[in-house]
Amino acid sequence: MRVLGIETSCDETAAAIVDNGTTLISSVVASSVDLHAEFGGIVPEIAARSHIESINAVINKALEQINSIQTTANSPHNSKFEIRNSKENPWSSIDAIAVTNGPGLLGSLLIGVLAARTLAITKNKPLYGINHVEAHVYSNFLISPAPKFPVLALIVSGGHTQLVIFTNHFEYQLLGQTYDDAVGEAFDKAAKIIGLPYPGGPNIAKAALHGDPHKFELPKAKVDGEFNFSFSGLKTAVLRLAQTQAGGDFKMPSFDIPPLLSDQQRYDIAASFQFVAIQTLVDKTLKAYNAFKPNTVVIAGGVAANQELRDQLSAALPISINYAPMNLCTDNGAMIASLGCFKGMANLQPDDPYSLEANPNLKM
Ligand code: KG4
Ligand code: ZN
Repeated sequence: MRVLGIETSCDETAAAIVDNGTTLISSVVASSVDLHAEFGGIVPEIAARSHIESINAVINKALEQINSIQTTANSPHNSKFEIRNSKENPWSSIDAIAVTNGPGLLGSLLIGVLAARTLAITKNKPLYGINHVEAHVYSNFLISPAPKFPVLALIVSGGHTQLVIFTNHFEYQLLGQTYDDAVGEAFDKAAKIIGLPYPGGPNIAKAALHGDPHKFELPKAKVDGEFNFSFSGLKTAVLRLAQTQAGGDFKMPSFDIPPLLSDQQRYDIAASFQFVAIQTLVDKTLKAYNAFKPNTVVIAGGVAANQELRDQLSAALPISINYAPMNLCTDNGAMIASLGCFKGMANLQPDDPYSLEANPNLKM
């Protein structure tokens, strides 16, 4: 089963081709992140306009790469080379289309969904609407060995922080989630406070490499529910710490702080913040592991690209974790195509290409 996956929920326009949910054939990502950096966060209108500009080229490039991969995989002396030459219509090998239809920014989602609906109708292919958060977990099915159920997933992105136990494909239970900010959002806000550019996550991680994670003691939130999270208190604690380090009090406006911090203060705040944020994630994941004894633990979503998370989690858990490469952790089309394959292979009812809607608040 070969699926074209399309993803436009936020600021990445992405398309990818995946076979049988596990084999990545091609993946193309065009990001508008640089256009948002000067505003310190995502501007929905800019994201939507960028998707319109990039979507056709991104999908075409993912499709074109089917042929180049097959031609390089087969030697010129192989008879298959003659059949799968670069002139072959790549659509002939596509069995279905999968597209993120939520959650995300409405204007962004609409572009991918409309592109996918149009292609499903004109190319006569089944269409699967895909939940972006659920799909993040499927990046882990694109590496080997494949996760073995039951799978405990820590999903950590700019919009979500949750622990989910999957007993099978499409069968899962939400164990806990954040009461307020997502952990990626906390990274982005902490970065802004200390004057690191957007996106904050990777920049905090980079700054933390030069800092002392134990220089400042930041609080770990105590929340109801064994597997729930809260990050808004930590964000406020970073603001208070940065104000003090900049020589001010709690009335100092946050935009006054960055020029008053030395590089070393910035590094130490970044490292101390990251240490506690990650420790919170690891504590809850370990608790969930002990409660459910899954066969596999996976991490998913943009924050899964964080090396400190990988190091702390591997040190805490009694089983080893197979981590997906960074480009499969942040938003991509491959995870969408992978989940689309599993839906197709399970013969789930495809969606109606004339009515599939974008839903910014789609729940798992
Ligand atoms: O999954 P994703 O690409 O988009 C959403 O679905 O939200 O996640 C984006 C989030 C951002 O908050 C970004 O700062 C964070 O992932 N992120 C990281 C790292 N790379 C991306 N956070 C911490 N460390 C990283 N290396
Ligand atoms: Zn995402």
